[in-house]
Amino acid sequence: MGEYICISDDVKLGANVKLTKFINLYGCTIGDNSKIGAFVEIQKNAFIGKNCKISSHTFICEGVTIEDNVFIGHNVTFINDLYPRSTTESGQLQTEADWVCGTTLIKKGASVGSSSTLLCGVTIGENAIVGAGSVVTKDVPANTVVAGNPARILKKL
Ligand SMILES: CC(C)(COP(=O)(O)OP(=O)(O)OC[C@H]1O[C@@H](n2cnc3c(N)ncnc32)[C@H](O)[C@@H]1OP(=O)(O)O)[C@@H](O)C(=O)NCCC(=O)NCCS
Repeated sequence: MGEYICISDDVKLGANVKLTKFINLYGCTIGDNSKIGAFVEIQKNAFIGKNCKISSHTFICEGVTIEDNVFIGHNVTFINDLYPRSTTESGQLQTEADWVCGTTLIKKGASVGSSSTLLCGVTIGENAIVGAGSVVTKDVPANTVVAGNPARILKKL
């Protein structure tokens, strides 16, 4: 284990998971041989498969499932609330009881380019590629390259 890593007791780490510095993990599962870069946060109820590479500065929130052999670039942001609010109607800070967690699925062998943002409710198909800086608003079919804001199909692989 490297220095400056914060891992809560409820994290499930597979065999040979590689962690660099400045990582915050709680309530998540990470599969065998996966590598997590610096300044990555992975929240509870997020699942990372085997042989994945999660590059530095990426945020993986609750509700995200990443299958095996997936590449996630730098500074990728996942979203689990499409209509976020700080407070309830009565002015109290919202808690988990005040919203429904959206989900996102990244299928086997897919790659997500750096600085992309993925809205919840989407599935990235097997071996698909999301271009750098994309905002993904819809499902991406398998073996397809998408890019842009909103992400559009560039080509089939
Ligand atoms: C999406 C991607 C795979 C496309 O590569 P490619 O097939 O070689 O595409 P090209 O460079 O031939 O570009 C094709 C068109 O798509 C556009 N395009 C390429 N990447 C784009 C992107 N990320 N966002 C918006 N448009 C993009 C190009 O401008 C070009 O447009 P044009 O036809 O109007 O000139 C690649 O550009 C990319 O973004 N890869 C991700 C890289 C990354 O984030 N790596 C992770 C860490 S190193």
